Formats: sequence, C-alpha cells, structure tokens
Amino acid sequence: MNAEELRAAEYSELWKIFIVMTPRRILITSALPYINGIKHLGNLAGSMLPADIYARFQRLRGHDVLYICATDEHGTPAELAAQAGNMDVRIYCDEQHQIQRDAGAGFNLSYDWFGRSSSPENHARTQYFARLLEQNGLIEERTSKQVYSVDDGRFLPDRYVEGTCPDCGYEKARGDQCDGCGRLLDPVELINPYSAVSGGRNIEIRDTAHLFLLQSKLQDRIREWVNNSHDWPQLAKSIALKWIDEGLRDRAITRDLSWGVPVLDTDGQPRKGFEDKVFYVWFDAPIEYIAATEEWANRTDSDWKRWWLTDEGADDVEYVEFMGKDNVAFHTVSFPVTLLGSGKPWKTVDRLKAFNWVTWYGGKFSTSNQRGVFMDQALDLLPADYWRWYLMANAPEGSDAAFTWEGFQASINSDLANVLGNFVNRITKYTVSKFAGTLPTSGTPGEDEAWMAEELKNRLTALNEHYEQMEFRKAAAETRALWAAGNEYLTRAEPWVKYKNDVDAAAIGVRTGLNLVAIFAIIAQPLIPETAKTILDTLGIPDENRAWPDADDTNLLDALPHNMTVQAPPVLFQKIEDAMVAAWSEQFGGSDA
Ligand code: 2FM
Ligand code: ZN
Repeated sequence: MNAEELRAAEYSELWKIFIVMTPRRILITSALPYINGIKHLGNLAGSMLPADIYARFQRLRGHDVLYICATDEHGTPAELAAQAGNMDVRIYCDEQHQIQRDAGAGFNLSYDWFGRSSSPENHARTQYFARLLEQNGLIEERTSKQVYSVDDGRFLPDRYVEGTCPDCGYEKARGDQCDGCGRLLDPVELINPYSAVSGGRNIEIRDTAHLFLLQSKLQDRIREWVNNSHDWPQLAKSIALKWIDEGLRDRAITRDLSWGVPVLDTDGQPRKGFEDKVFYVWFDAPIEYIAATEEWANRTDSDWKRWWLTDEGADDVEYVEFMGKDNVAFHTVSFPVTLLGSGKPWKTVDRLKAFNWVTWYGGKFSTSNQRGVFMDQALDLLPADYWRWYLMANAPEGSDAAFTWEGFQASINSDLANVLGNFVNRITKYTVSKFAGTLPTSGTPGEDEAWMAEELKNRLTALNEHYEQMEFRKAAAETRALWAAGNEYLTRAEPWVKYKNDVDAAAIGVRTGLNLVAIFAIIAQPLIPETAKTILDTLGIPDENRAWPDADDTNLLDALPHNMTVQAPPVLFQKIEDAMVAAWSEQFGGSDA
C-alpha cells in the first residue's frame, strides 16, 4: 500500500461519519430568473441560493438530488430590451443567458442543469400541455378589448399603456394600476392613453382573441390539493389559500407578441387567428421546470420521467420548490391547474419554500438610482462565500430583511473571520509549531471533551432539523453556534497552558480541536463551499470522507487518522475595514442614499 492508500484505509476504519440509509430522491427547482439583466442579491437570496444550499445539504446526506433551474426568456420585457439594444431577441437572450449562467457559476450554485425556457424541449412540452388542456375542456377562445398602438404596430400589454387615471386624475397612471391612488385599472379606462414604449398617442381599442385557461373549473380540485399538502411552510400555504378563497379566475394564456411559444393546431400549423400570438410567459415558464429536466436528460443520457411522472418512478420523489413570495400564486394555483388539468400523472410540488424580500436599507434595489449590489458586482468585491453567508444568516424568512453594509461587515468579521477563521488558524498553527505538524495520539478525553461531544451531538441534531425544515437563518445561526462552541472548548481545555506541564493533556485538546476543524468545515459546505473546501483540502481529507456527520456517532471527536500530517490553511477571511464600507456605500448606496 502506498501512503495514500494507507491513509484512505485508515479513514474508512476511523472516520465513521457516513450515514447508511435508503437514499431519498429529491427534486429541487428554484424560480426561473427572468432573462433581462443580471439579478441582484435579493433575487439570489430569495430562491437560487437557498435552493443550492438545500441541494448541497441533501447531497452530503447521501440523497439522490436533482437541482434544476433555467432562464425565463419569453415575454414583452425581453422583446423590448432586445429592441432597445437594436438586437435580435434570440441573440439578446443567448447573451443574457450566458451572463446569468456565469453569475450562477461564480456563486457556486450547484445546478444539475441550468436550462432555457426558449428551448425546443419547452416549446414541445408547452404545446403538449395546451393540447391536453383543450382536449379536457379547460381552454376556451374568448375575444376581449385591448389597447393597440398604431405607432408601435402592436397591442400593448397592460403595464405598457399609460395615461390619466379616471379616478384621481394622476397623469402617469399605468394600465394595470394607478400609482397616484393605488386603484387597479383596466387599461381601456385610461384617459388620454399613450404607449409607454414609444410615447405614441395614436391608440385604438381593438378586439383580440385569446385562449383562456378555465381555472374556475378546477377550483375544488386545487383547494383539495392545497388542503392535502402537509409540508408547506406557513407563508406559502396562506398565500395559496387566500387566492383560492377569492375564487380562481379564468385567465388568458396567450398574448399578442412574437417572442414566445407559438400557438399551434394539432397538426402543428399556426392556429387560425393566432398567427401573431404566443403563449403567455407565465404559462410556459413553469413548464420549463419539466422541459429543463428533459434538456438535462437529452444531454446526459438520463431518464427525466422518473423525476416527473408518477407512473414512471416519480411516485417516491419529494419535489421542493423555492421562490419569492410574489411567485407563490403561480406555483400553487396556475401551474398546478396546468399539471392536474392535463389529466396525466405529473408530479406536483410537495414542499414549497417562499421568501420575503431582501431590501436595500429598507427600500428597493434599483439599478438606475444606484441602490444595491448585483450578482456580478458582488463577486468583483469579495468571494462568493462572504455573500452566501451573510444572505443566509439574514435570510428574509419571517419578514423582509434589510441588506446593510454595516450588518454585512459585522457578520463577516465576527462569524467568519473571528469565530470560524480564528479557530481553524489557531489550532492548525499550534499543531504545526508544537506537534511537528502531526495529529497527536496521546492523552485521554476528560470532562472538557465530554462537554464538547454533548454540544456537538445536540447542535448537529438541531442543525439537521433546521435544514430539513428549510429554515436557513436558523441553520446559519446553528452552524455559527457550533463554531462558537469549539472556541469555548479551547478556552476550557487550554492546551497551550497545559503544554507547559503536561504534553499529553495538551495533546488531547489539540486532537479534539483538529477533529473539530474538520467537522466545522464539513458542516460549512452547504453555506460556504469554497472555504470549506480550502480547509478540507489543506487537511487532506479525501472527498469520500466529507459527507455529513451523523449526530449520534460517538467517535466524531477522534475520527481523524492518528499521526496524520497537519498544515495550516492560508488566512481564510479578509476582514472588512471601515474604509471599504465607506467606499462601497459611496458606490452602491448606503444608509444615507
Ligand atoms: O418572477 C420571476 O422572475 C419569474 N421569471 C419567475 C418564473 S418561475 C417559473 F415559474 F418559471
Ligand atoms: Zn388614480
């Protein structure tokens, strides 16, 4: 056996942190980020990041996880953004998709697949659902009146018509709502309407036909389905029931646009009267959860049906969705109408985790007003782990959560640099200088080690529970509490004091401390994967020994191979200085912005 094989063999005997069990199958989706423009930190914190952390946690527990996301590419905003840049909309989307893909990679979002709602798979799957819904009597053609801009040569979506509010006289009321008095409007009510796209006042009210999804017919079915959902966190369930209580309304699932999934007949030809129309972006976007899985399967020779069709193996899948609270109605009502209404055994969501908003000092993120940090800018300032940590330690779960530079600075300097960083550095450096860089074998555990073992067991149990409940703020707090307990252990055990008179007594403190370093890094993997990897790589812990520890394992504090070589990692976290906060507040907005 060479040295490496010997090490691996030793681990398999000593490092008993594997959990043996029947793997669960967990399908995870995070709301699809809209294509136009890079997302800000609030968008990241409210769907993609927690989904990634949950995926990582469950993978480390040994479960079979499939984490799917994609860009949501259709609709008016994409079309107008492309037009503004004088670009073909498809090329615009190609570019923007790549930008969002890179930003996700920069934040270490561990998608199994990051797809595109404009894919051929999604086109086909959207046609499939529309066809079944129509066959099942759930789609009907209806004619309605809509605002047409002669200057733009197009029908205007509600929020692209502006004019004077018939109620309060506010002159810049939007077609869907008046910002002057707050009333919800029908765009045809506006006085002196004009196009928000071009400013053109040549406006006509024209008849236009659309396909309507008869959601009202499925009211009872959806209510029953929501009532039967046991695992939905409170925020999601209350939003869903509020919508159902108000009564499901039939809604148009097509739009007068050219960029989107075309409306076809059964023979694959454009449907008569719908040649210039496409499906509404909110109809095809959630279908992309399925289609993106097909994209993944087509490119990796995998089976997507076992994740999505309950008669093809998906009956034991746990499907978990992550999203901001504004998306809940679409996921608890509209998308389930599509799935259940198809009459086929599609998998529906089992657990839905919704988030409130991350605010920028209590207000809105805004590119034009220079308020807030966007994903690409954040990575120019500091590594992903800093943001990941702060955003989850302050996850907008019970209520909105404000991003502030001061809070960010305090959290990084205290939690990461002091509590975790110092612990790791102190104990590894001490091993290098006093124990020749070797994990000491002598000494027997005493009272302090028993205290630590108890802390570890209890806190790990709590941590597992927080992750299972998808309580990310609590999970981060518990992770920190465990790191803090390690510091307290060192204060109690005082290996540096004992070393002077009793090297064996110091040795047990160092050995326990080094095992804690490994455990602290292992449990940090979901939240701060890069730093965790640096620590585990420096210790030379093989990949297969980085799985989630079992809280009931009594050997956790003596699992590392005795006599293994120990090196100190580089400084793990840079402290955030006041001057940095001042500069960033200036650049991105701060308390006085
Ligand atoms: O709110 C949004 O940004 C949407 N693009 C979310 C879509 S989620 C899903 F249904 F596709
Ligand atoms: Zn008004």
